[in-house]
Amino acid sequence: MNKEEAVNKGANLSGLLSLLKPSATLEITSKAKSMAASGEDVVILAAGEPDFDTPQSVKQAAVDAINRGETKYTPAVGTLSLRKAISEKLKKDNGVEYSPGEIIVSNGAKHSIYNALQALCNPGDEVVIIHPYWLSYPEMVTLAGATPVVVKTSASSGFKASAEDIKNAITGKTKALILNSPSNPSGAVYEKQDLKAISDICLDNGVYVISDEIYEKIMFDGIEHFSIASLSPEARDMTVLVNGVSKSYSMTGWRIGYLAADTRITSLISGFQSQTTSNPCSISQAAAEFALTSPELEAELEKNRAEYKKRRDEMMNLLAGNEKIQPFKPLGAFYLFCDISATGMSSVEFAGKLLRDEKVAVIPGGPFGEDSFVRMSFATSLEKINEGVDRISRWLEKV
Ligand SMILES: Cc1ncc(COP(=O)(O)O)c(C=O)c1O
Repeated sequence: MNKEEAVNKGANLSGLLSLLKPSATLEITSKAKSMAASGEDVVILAAGEPDFDTPQSVKQAAVDAINRGETKYTPAVGTLSLRKAISEKLKKDNGVEYSPGEIIVSNGAKHSIYNALQALCNPGDEVVIIHPYWLSYPEMVTLAGATPVVVKTSASSGFKASAEDIKNAITGKTKALILNSPSNPSGAVYEKQDLKAISDICLDNGVYVISDEIYEKIMFDGIEHFSIASLSPEARDMTVLVNGVSKSYSMTGWRIGYLAADTRITSLISGFQSQTTSNPCSISQAAAEFALTSPELEAELEKNRAEYKKRRDEMMNLLAGNEKIQPFKPLGAFYLFCDISATGMSSVEFAGKLLRDEKVAVIPGGPFGEDSFVRMSFATSLEKINEGVDRISRWLEKV
């Protein structure tokens, strides 16, 4: 091989990885943050994480773990005591029983979903995703060698897919459905009767459900979270339940998520994780265990929930009556998904011009599969919400 051939061979990098799209959420957020860092007066309504600090007692639990010397490798799937705590949590909060052997702790719920897809899929399989979807789902399905199949929903159907919609998307190649309730970006919530109908269709067709329940603790208006895994023993066996501490305990940076599933699935993931990442951070595991086993933190979660609700209502009120932007009322999570079709702009154009003209950062809906919407986050103060919506309203009068 001559030098030129060797260079060309070296440049022939992974075709699969070059298919991946960079995360639009991270891109616009980092642009807005760098504008703010250089002294510009930016209002960031783009955050995908709680603005509340991690509870002080959780931080202390991490310090205690360091001082006890818990700074070495743990089992690749997570410590037994954390998996026991997760098992108890799933029984208490979600009414579904998993032994610690059926639980795998990973570096965030995102990593758990990636692991689940790797364990379930073969090349050529299809995975059903409901629009508007969290933008990492299609990319992770592609990485597993499978094909994402998108079920379209609309604001008028509450951004929820019916069992019939899902049935119509299922083919002989369908391996799994990804469900996300409460949903990012729409805040839609599937209630028990919705899930029962969807579960029946999935069970009839041998389709697994990856149930992403990361926003479980951020719900409004008295609606309660329900996990599809708890419907029946059969539903449990066909579900990979994903959750974590990032959003509920304001612990996004600690990187602890988990999945619970039948041992046929967890034994594959256990091997996969042991050969790839090994255990998630030992100190973060101790902190997560403290969070999940401390009933006194409930009051703090309740306080945060009430604050999110206040902000959601304020943002909805401020936007009410504006013909150019129509928010969909979320029942969970901390995002307002807003219809901007009346402006005639694409979501990327809208977000780009708004940041340039008024220094307000929102996330375009395009990467979530819905280009006539933008996502605004209310994981920020009421003051910022007022200022941001004020600027948006002023700007919309001009465009
Ligand atoms: C729907 C959804 N699932 C999973 C995650 C990832 O959570 P984690 O920080 O635990 O990886 C996010 C984060 O934005 C999300 O919005």
